[in-house]
Amino acid sequence: MSLVDTAVDRYQLCHGIKPMPSDPLLGLSVSFNSDPNRDKIDLGVGVYKDLSGAAPVFKSVKSAEQILWHRETTKAYIPPAGDSDFISAMESLLLGEDHQCLQDQRIKTLQTPGGSCALRIAAEFVWRCNPSATVWLSAPTWVNHQPLLGRIGLPVREYFYYDYQSHQLDFQRMMASLEATSAGDLILLQGCCHNPSGADLSLEQWQHIADFCRDRGLVPLVDIAYQGFAQGLAEDASGLRLLCDQLPEVLITASCSKNFALYRERVGSFSVVAATPKKADQALSQALDIIRGYYFVPAAHGAQVVKTILQDPRLRNCWLSELALVRERIAEVRNLLCSEFREFREIRGFQQPACRDRFAYISQQQGMFSFLGLSPLQVDQLRQQYSIYMATSSRINLSGINPGNINYLVNSVNLVLAAA
Ligand SMILES: Cc1ncc(COP(=O)(O)O)c(C=O)c1O
Repeated sequence: MSLVDTAVDRYQLCHGIKPMPSDPLLGLSVSFNSDPNRDKIDLGVGVYKDLSGAAPVFKSVKSAEQILWHRETTKAYIPPAGDSDFISAMESLLLGEDHQCLQDQRIKTLQTPGGSCALRIAAEFVWRCNPSATVWLSAPTWVNHQPLLGRIGLPVREYFYYDYQSHQLDFQRMMASLEATSAGDLILLQGCCHNPSGADLSLEQWQHIADFCRDRGLVPLVDIAYQGFAQGLAEDASGLRLLCDQLPEVLITASCSKNFALYRERVGSFSVVAATPKKADQALSQALDIIRGYYFVPAAHGAQVVKTILQDPRLRNCWLSELALVRERIAEVRNLLCSEFREFREIRGFQQPACRDRFAYISQQQGMFSFLGLSPLQVDQLRQQYSIYMATSSRINLSGINPGNINYLVNSVNLVLAAA
């Protein structure tokens, strides 16, 4: 009998512990990797892939890392709030160089381990400031919003967002469902490239939301994880900038995972826009106290890379062109997918526009994701019969599509639809 066996009866911590189901999307990647089918397609996890199917390191990132390798002289802790140059660079990226909030010093920002941790800090910040506030999430939203925001204990409710029949954002229903909000509640809005639907708000709709929040005393929490993936850096942040122009309080969570392709380096930010510089400082002191309970100080590397790129005009230009390529490729895939579906369905005799153009909405949407509008059974058939992997909701990562696999995808989806 081992020493461990002799002490087992006195230990209860893991006694009766229940296993949790594994993350469905990560499970999908495991199944994909072990699938021997040479035609297999991975449209699951939200990582940008280039034409060859690789998730590349940007050249701008590699160059910044080279500079850092030569320049770095210490691995001592950085300040708990993060690197001050990274923070200013992020604030300018999010709001633009000359935004009034920056001039008025109404914004305070922390460097965070990814956008995910920024969301967690935001949740605890709200919990401290106003524990009776409800956080309103779009239905549907990114699957991790609920655990990141809700597990602190904040009440979380949903507002209507995406109409699965028309494949569009239904703004009227969205605003009607937000009638149930109360003063002090938070509305989580995605800055651009809505995950999972790809259906974004127009600037006019952002304005409507700003008016609504002001009238009701609601605080927007803008989660911006794909800035630069839709129209451009400034355009993608225009809704966020408008809210910060017009409202006394806005919370912002940002991620550098996608637009710098720094996923595993875990870099992002949490900002509080408050009514006065003094209130913003007080908010920052609360946020700093929160992070003391999580990780004390953030990791340096990812933020150093971002700062180096943003501060060096040559690297910045290189990054801007790499980001433009990503944006253009996603837009191309969207258009190509629509036309391939249309052509296929025309040949098969679908003459009525509603059937022939069933997937036309994909070219109107933005960012890496859209729904194909398939049932969980059809998604399962695609996986079992054709080795095409996507989330059960039929959300696809469009960057997983390339000229080499698009015909197989379109064929397979149509076959599954025809069999229904
Ligand atoms: C909408 C949204 N917000 C936040 C994040 C968090 O990103 P990360 O923690 O990798 O920076 C993601 C990641 O997929 C996302 O899709």
